[in-house]
Amino acid sequence: MYILGIETSCDETGIAVYDSRFWESNEPAHLGLLGQSLFSQVKMHELYGGVVPELASRDHIRISLPLIEDCLKKSQLKLPEIDALAYTKGPGLAGALLVGTSIAKSIAFGLSKKIIGIHHLEGHLLSPLLSPELKSSSKLHLFPFLALLVSGGHTQIMLVKDIGVYETLGETLDDAAGEAFDKTAKLLGLSYPGGPAVSQLAEKGHRGRFQLPRPLLHSKTLDFSFAGLKTAVLTQVKSSGPMSEQLKADLAIAFVDAVVEVLCKKVNDALTLTGCKTLVVAGGVGANTQLRDGLKKLGKKTNAKILYPPLDLCTDNGAMIAFAGALKLLKNPSLADSSLGFDVKPRWPLSEVLS
Ligand code: KG4
Ligand code: ZN
Repeated sequence: MYILGIETSCDETGIAVYDSRFWESNEPAHLGLLGQSLFSQVKMHELYGGVVPELASRDHIRISLPLIEDCLKKSQLKLPEIDALAYTKGPGLAGALLVGTSIAKSIAFGLSKKIIGIHHLEGHLLSPLLSPELKSSSKLHLFPFLALLVSGGHTQIMLVKDIGVYETLGETLDDAAGEAFDKTAKLLGLSYPGGPAVSQLAEKGHRGRFQLPRPLLHSKTLDFSFAGLKTAVLTQVKSSGPMSEQLKADLAIAFVDAVVEVLCKKVNDALTLTGCKTLVVAGGVGANTQLRDGLKKLGKKTNAKILYPPLDLCTDNGAMIAFAGALKLLKNPSLADSSLGFDVKPRWPLSEVLS
């Protein structure tokens, strides 16, 4: 089955084709990704210091169809050869979601194809299964596994019992980790999106100059809180006066260390609690090198296998949507949607997805 994935939940238009036979066979799963095309609106939103929803929708409209053509060309397929469509139904910006939904539904209706709406985070959560490191033989023994979802809008630890069956073990009570990175970047005068910029600056930082809090580090729950950390950065910026590049780098490393320590501690607790031996890490912050170093050490200590999506699939993309659509339709073909409505879910708890 060839599945065309369409992602337009925020500021990236992502299109991809996945061949589901690669998941069912003994082939490595990632080889089923036949082609993908991505357009990032980051440059446009950079001017405003964050995503402007109306501009995002307009750009998705402008770019989606050429991108679909480009992706089909890379996949060496014609549109009628596609068997099913998967689109991001939520959560995200309503107008942006509606663009991908309208396009996907129109193609499905016009060409009588199957269609499925995907939860954006389910896409992120399953994308590490496209890692070249996932051996074909491990596909069968994968579940249950733990997932750390760290993006601009979410920070959650999930227990993945099966495809579509997710239990939230812990989540942020306020800001998401990526949001804390973006806000810290703004305070340090760095460009949007802030995560990669803070991470790079932190590489030059000296430890020990700043002490920042580790919110909820010793709490009994697996929940997170990053709002206080961001306020602590603000307090340091205000009390430091004009900051040299080195001082900014020192504050950046103190911030990154605090985030990484909290994330690793909660993952450690979740591994102990569940007895899981596999952790998948997904979402934009999963691209962070300091977090990867911290989790690598944790993996060695706990003997847990840690899977990441290929680096280009850490941030928003169409491949994760095509792939999630493939896995869900393979498991339960009745999940295909036959309604004509353009319903999107800007807010949608992951635990409410169907399986
Ligand atoms: O998953 P994503 O692309 O979009 C959603 O939020 O769904 O994640 C974007 C977030 C942004 O907050 C961005 O600053 C952060 O991921 N991010 C990073 C890095 N790359 C992206 N944060 C820390 N280090 C990075 N290397
Ligand atoms: Zn995302």
